[in-house]
Amino acid sequence: MTALQRFDLQGRVILLTGGAGLYGRGLARDLAETGARLIIAARSVEKLEAVAAEERNRGLDVTAMALDQGDEASVMALKNHIVADYGQLDGLVNNAVARPMKGANGSVEQWEESMRVNATGIMLMHRHLGKMMAERGSGSIVNIGSIQGMIGPSYELYTGTTMGDMPPDYFFHKGGMVNLTRFYAALFGPQNVRVNCLAPGGFFNNQPEPFLTRYAEHTMLGRMADPTDLGGSVIFLLSDASRYITGVNLPVDGGYTAK
Ligand SMILES: NC(=O)c1ccc[n+]([C@@H]2O[C@H](COP(=O)([O-])OP(=O)(O)OC[C@H]3O[C@@H](n4cnc5c(N)ncnc54)[C@H](O)[C@@H]3O)[C@@H](O)[C@H]2O)c1
Repeated sequence: MTALQRFDLQGRVILLTGGAGLYGRGLARDLAETGARLIIAARSVEKLEAVAAEERNRGLDVTAMALDQGDEASVMALKNHIVADYGQLDGLVNNAVARPMKGANGSVEQWEESMRVNATGIMLMHRHLGKMMAERGSGSIVNIGSIQGMIGPSYELYTGTTMGDMPPDYFFHKGGMVNLTRFYAALFGPQNVRVNCLAPGGFFNNQPEPFLTRYAEHTMLGRMADPTDLGGSVIFLLSDASRYITGVNLPVDGGYTAK
């Protein structure tokens, strides 16, 4: 096998959660283009069906399935659906995130809803789908974290804008994801399942000008992320090219956290 062939995901069964969101749409496109058999899953199957249809129109193998990550019965139903239709799972990208909490003073109910999906739910994805890979003796899980799981809020970026009231749940569960990654990397390592985390930086989404300028100044590469920035690292971590890498948290942030 050549060095480039180790990056090959052709025919691999890969599950991407949240495939219609900001980062998720670009990831769905990139993963489909590898020739993988891609499953995209989230609560809104209608939106996902549109994404899957667009990719199938390009001749790619993409299927939409329903998932409420905060509901154990839904996670197990998705697993059973994958077993029935594909018989195996080679890769899992935990990209979905729920954002119910709207600011520093968001309600306890919003916090609890966030934990249902982003804490309990992410554990359930590892427990049920990771276990399925472990039983087969191979697989790779890529958790999509955030720079906001590594550092505190940079309030100064938002001065003069209506943005910047950041919710505490996000910093809690994205921080927890880094060490949950290590937990499952250790648990599943002996069964040849790797678990890694990526910490993306902010995604360009037409944010207001003073914020964009300050964000660019704070970032070594001088810009926010675009839809093509995350896929290469996800493909690397899903593929055999990274087969001796597990338990890491890799920032994909243009140097934001290195500064
Ligand atoms: N957008 C950013 O600037 C940014 C920066 C750093 C990290 N991230 C991370 O990247 C990932 C994607 O972020 P995004 O901004 O593209 O998200 P988004 O809000 O655009 O999309 C989130 C996706 O998760 C799905 N989802 C929400 N609740 C769910 C549930 N209960 N069950 C199943 N699916 C559910 C939604 O349907 C949606 O498809 C997240 O993990 C996020 O934390 C985003």
